[in-house]
Amino acid sequence: EAAGPLAGRHVLVTSGPTHEPIDPVRYIANRSSGRQGHAIAGALAALGARVTLVHGPVALPPPPGVRAVGVESAREMLAACEAALPADAAICAAAVADWRAAGEAAQKLKKVPGQPPPPLALALNPDILATLSGHARRPALVVGFAAETEKVVANAVAKRQRKGCDWIVANDVSGDVMGGAENAVHLVTEAGVEDWPRLPKQEVAARLAARVAARLGGAEGIA
Ligand code: C5P
Repeated sequence: EAAGPLAGRHVLVTSGPTHEPIDPVRYIANRSSGRQGHAIAGALAALGARVTLVHGPVALPPPPGVRAVGVESAREMLAACEAALPADAAICAAAVADWRAAGEAAQKLKKVPGQPPPPLALALNPDILATLSGHARRPALVVGFAAETEKVVANAVAKRQRKGCDWIVANDVSGDVMGGAENAVHLVTEAGVEDWPRLPKQEVAARLAARVAARLGGAEGIA
């Protein structure tokens, strides 16, 4: 029986990239190590939450005490998230590919000497954050991330509205954040914008988990 301020709470976390197959050997992906999302899952578990970590292909082991569900594509990630509901909170930290190949070739596409490259038609992937935010079984707290290279806060404020989530963790990825150990974020909530100092990703995770706990409160005795 877990103890801590999130005991009895179930939190869904997405982490890592998705891989969208083009053919049996090639894929489209976003750049993501999963470090921030995995750290958030671990920090929530450390506060006593029951955590479902739905993650794309990453080189990281799942943190101790979380239930990890590995997926490849955005559509698989959405299905795994919906299967994990109900949840008290959802933290969408995954770098989901916005597009997938419109049709996955059954055989490896062949390079034919003298021929131009094959055309690559794209189809729009589902938006997992927006889907969870508008879901019939919407978690009470839905948190998204916004990786931006410019107008970080303004884009995050707009994204919060557009996606229908409660909070956005906005980070400036114009520097060396991707794959690195530190993150400089702004927390955009209904109350406004907080600028957090540049912190190790573990510290960003611990702070965010503490905020989730403060928002949800305890649920002792509720399975
Ligand atoms: O629209 P954008 O990709 O910038 O939004 C980022 C946020 O939306 C992140 O929280 C990410 O996990 C989520 N997202 C998602 N499904 C998508 C695209 C983004 O859940 N298809």
